[in-house]
Amino acid sequence: MTRVSPLHAAALPLALVALAAFACTPPAEEAPEEVAAIEEEMPIEPEPAPSTATATLTTADGTEVGTATFTQENGQTTASFHLTSVAAPGTHGIHVHENGECTPPDFTSAGGHFNPAGVDHACPPTTPRHAGDFGNLEIAEDGSGHLDITTDLITVEDGPNSVVGKAVILHGGQDDCTTQPTGDAGARLACGVIESGGADGMNGMDHDDMEGMDDDGMEGMDDDGMDDE
Ligand code: CU
Ligand code: ZN
Repeated sequence: MTRVSPLHAAALPLALVALAAFACTPPAEEAPEEVAAIEEEMPIEPEPAPSTATATLTTADGTEVGTATFTQENGQTTASFHLTSVAAPGTHGIHVHENGECTPPDFTSAGGHFNPAGVDHACPPTTPRHAGDFGNLEIAEDGSGHLDITTDLITVEDGPNSVVGKAVILHGGQDDCTTQPTGDAGARLACGVIESGGADGMNGMDHDDMEGMDDDGMEGMDDDGMDDE
């Protein structure tokens, strides 16, 4: 028969308690550090989504010769004209015109220069000038040309100065920056209607990435709900 002494019977439970306490303590101290590390990575500053509009310029026979992209961000709008295959090297006037209609062959359907402020024609950086005045760009021998201008005279977002629904016209001649109200830039070589959104699917990606879906959903619901009048 085995006889357990009172001393041993008391010591065994104490040892188990001590083991349990030792085993549990370290993980309990690590946990708060992990939470803190995760919280530091959480804040992602939401940048305001830039508003974009684009136009594809085509000649009277339907040949695509380039694009215009308008990007509004932080109160300024950058107009970026990217010509790729203009069959007339040299200096060409380029403007935003007031009507978003490009009817060949002369594109007079696009109307005059976009001029919401009712001021005289000029070329950047001179002010005042038509909101649609972008001066001239140089077409190289290979048919390419590029011009970027950032201005607060136009917007992409809704408003009196929005270029959405207007037209970009590339002229056959040079804008002299003084003749009123056209700059005497000659025939209208190419025309493109400015539409909201990016070129070639870029816009869809932007909207999905940003929080445009939330905005669209809310606006749609509000508009539908308020349609009482
Ligand atoms: Cu023009
Ligand atoms: Zn003008």
